[in-house]
Amino acid sequence: LNLSPRELRAFRRVKFLGCGSAYYVGQIGAQMIEDLARIPADAEPASEFRYRNPIIEPDTLYVVVSQSGETADTAFAVLEIKRKGGTVIGAVNVVGSTIAREVDGGIYLHAGPEIAVASTKALTNMAMAFGMLALHLGRLHDLSYADGERISNALKAIPEQIQAILDSEPAIAAIAQRVAKAENAFFIGRVRQYPVAREGAQKLKEISYVHAEAYPTSELKHGPLALIDPAMLTVAVVPDDELASRNIAAVEQVRARGGEVVAITHEAVEFGTIAIERIVVPKTEPELDPILLIIPTQLLAYHAALVLGHDVDKPRNLAKSVTVE
Ligand code: G6P
Repeated sequence: LNLSPRELRAFRRVKFLGCGSAYYVGQIGAQMIEDLARIPADAEPASEFRYRNPIIEPDTLYVVVSQSGETADTAFAVLEIKRKGGTVIGAVNVVGSTIAREVDGGIYLHAGPEIAVASTKALTNMAMAFGMLALHLGRLHDLSYADGERISNALKAIPEQIQAILDSEPAIAAIAQRVAKAENAFFIGRVRQYPVAREGAQKLKEISYVHAEAYPTSELKHGPLALIDPAMLTVAVVPDDELASRNIAAVEQVRARGGEVVAITHEAVEFGTIAIERIVVPKTEPELDPILLIIPTQLLAYHAALVLGHDVDKPRNLAKSVTVE
């Protein structure tokens, strides 16, 4: 990071900036930092950043997120931060790329070359890197040794857990048959899982061209519930955490209006007699759950696109690396 413990401790705020999937995973990173380091953190689209004449604060750590390291909107955000004297680090996959060269320090993801337009493995590696960054910042603040060890052990177990999800691919592919038939879908998730829902909806739009929107689960009753009927599919992210009963209640409301539900969930979550399709992922520590819950959303989009006969690697109208404004 090119920042000493003393310099890192002085930051009172963290802001993530990225575009598309890199923005959504930045939201996951911000939540991890708030959870583990208790430093206020948020994410915003890098594409908007310089146009709103942002206030660059010396005690904010800016984190730019980019697989390619060449996204123009993100690179301009870096310039804006540097022009105004801010400190900016990168989470970048491509070694030696424009953004990697411009930042003050950072993390190389080492995810290997990513060919498909829609980011998948780079995104997972970004989320892992943010888990490590949050752990690092946490240990500089009030995260105890024991809690640090709990997170560190959980991070080490993640690759094996991801493999378990990949092993369940045939079951997810079967559910994707239903997703491919949908014309519209909602993705819902609460707090840590809201960015998972946003990324899930984005992936489905991008590669299967099924219209999908994400909402925080708590917002369902404040508007989108009006659209629920048998033709509207809902993908609900329902982890085994302190909000499970509220999430199950939301699923029940969707079912009561005839909406079909696919739940991405953990083994321990009981839906009772509510009729839904379940995709079960392994449990990790609550702060890290999004890393694993996001993977079935990628597989759902991938298999829905295959069913519909689309090119999953090169979706229409999109480019892997958007090097122009
Ligand atoms: C494009 C791609 C997205 C990607 C975004 C950011 O819009 O289609 O999949 O998330 O750029 O790319 P980056 O290389 O900066 O992560």
